Amino acid sequence: MATIAPVTGLDGDVPISAIDVSDATFYANDSWRPVFARLRAEAPVHHQANSPFGPFWSVSSHADIMAVEARPDIFSSSHEFGGITVVDLFGEYNLPQFIAMDRPRHSDQRRVVAPAFGPSEIARMAIEVRSRTRELVDALPIGETFDWVDRVSIELTTGMLAILFGYPWEKRRDLTLWSDWGGDIEAALNPATKDIRQQHLIDMTHALDALMAERKAKPPSGDLISAMAHSDAMGDMPFQERTGNYILLIVGGNDTTRNSMSGMVEAFNRYDGEWEKLEADHSLIPNAISETLRWQTPLAHMRRTANQDSEIAGHAVKAGDKLVLWYISGNRDESVFPDAERFDIARANARRHLSFGFGVHRCVGARLAELQIAVLMEELLARKLFPRQVGEAEYVAQCFVHGFRKLPVVLERR
Ligand code: HEM
Repeated sequence: MATIAPVTGLDGDVPISAIDVSDATFYANDSWRPVFARLRAEAPVHHQANSPFGPFWSVSSHADIMAVEARPDIFSSSHEFGGITVVDLFGEYNLPQFIAMDRPRHSDQRRVVAPAFGPSEIARMAIEVRSRTRELVDALPIGETFDWVDRVSIELTTGMLAILFGYPWEKRRDLTLWSDWGGDIEAALNPATKDIRQQHLIDMTHALDALMAERKAKPPSGDLISAMAHSDAMGDMPFQERTGNYILLIVGGNDTTRNSMSGMVEAFNRYDGEWEKLEADHSLIPNAISETLRWQTPLAHMRRTANQDSEIAGHAVKAGDKLVLWYISGNRDESVFPDAERFDIARANARRHLSFGFGVHRCVGARLAELQIAVLMEELLARKLFPRQVGEAEYVAQCFVHGFRKLPVVLERR
């Protein structure tokens, strides 16, 4: 990994006002833990006056994050205020998508997409996920170093998305490319890359529009594109809104699950004995998935904007103020998760993690994500294989998508 300059905020003598947790270096060099511990202890609701993203409130405790998410009528998700991440996107860069809408449009569009993640669809997809995962795991080299991110995490989640969309299998890496650009908020902020990013999003819309037209001409087929094509709420969206919703589903389905699959490897490697617990008792798998999601936190934050003067935990918040909800910090809150840094697959309340958010926008794809991770764990256990981390991880340098660029492993037979 390239050497990255240290950032301020880790020492007690640095004033809290000088700490900016949106600084990408905290994530690039995996040094975010102590700085959020300080925020939770000293200023769980903290006003960040200056940042490259402008001023914002940092909400870093579990209870305060839930309190904000529980009041969607005041703390808006609407793209009209700049969107759902710390970066303000306006004009042509501002994409309407249902994660960035409030009631009633949010509920109308969510209702179209939700059935694609219902129990019968999940059961149908489970069969494909199982066979693709088996095929992939069987093809992995044993005893040889390879990059888990590329060979496993990206491949499995991109494949899943191709299944969900009914996207041509041989072109599935298009989805990875669009996902990487779409989820990259540093690229969206940087004048040198924001137009390149925008062009990728336009290319994506053209490609998926062609599929949408194809599905519209046929009876409903159960995949996500078909569900949108045949719905009133999403069958005839303007260009920007189509782009917004396509990229939502792609980033939602790809970057996130991908990073939890890599986080799973990092966590089991850091904490000796946890994989052995799983080997001894497979009924721990569902809880191990929740604990992986808590411990890794694939999306570091979501953002809301106050649409009226209000307050959070005694702090006066003005209409127009931006609130950044740091899930990555709420998931380390010791008042909810004792010994929170520890990865413990038997943790009693691991399911209280905030990685899928909370309230009306809680992740619609949560069950699909859990299914993919479960199948991966099961197939590794069935073959008595363990991915041993053999070198330093390389992390994504930004404060929204929290994840891995590279993770060298060797598969060990046990
Ligand atoms: C480990 C994997 C995943 C994580 C950590 C994750 C995380 C999240 C989070 C934090 C939110 C916003 C919640 C809020 O604002 O309260 C969200 C919403 C959403 N996710 Fe996921 N997600 C994952 C997997 C997926 C998958 C597989 C899909 C399917 C394509 C998906 C699609 C969506 C959509 C469409 C929304 C918007 C829901 C709404 O606004 O009502 N996600 N997800």
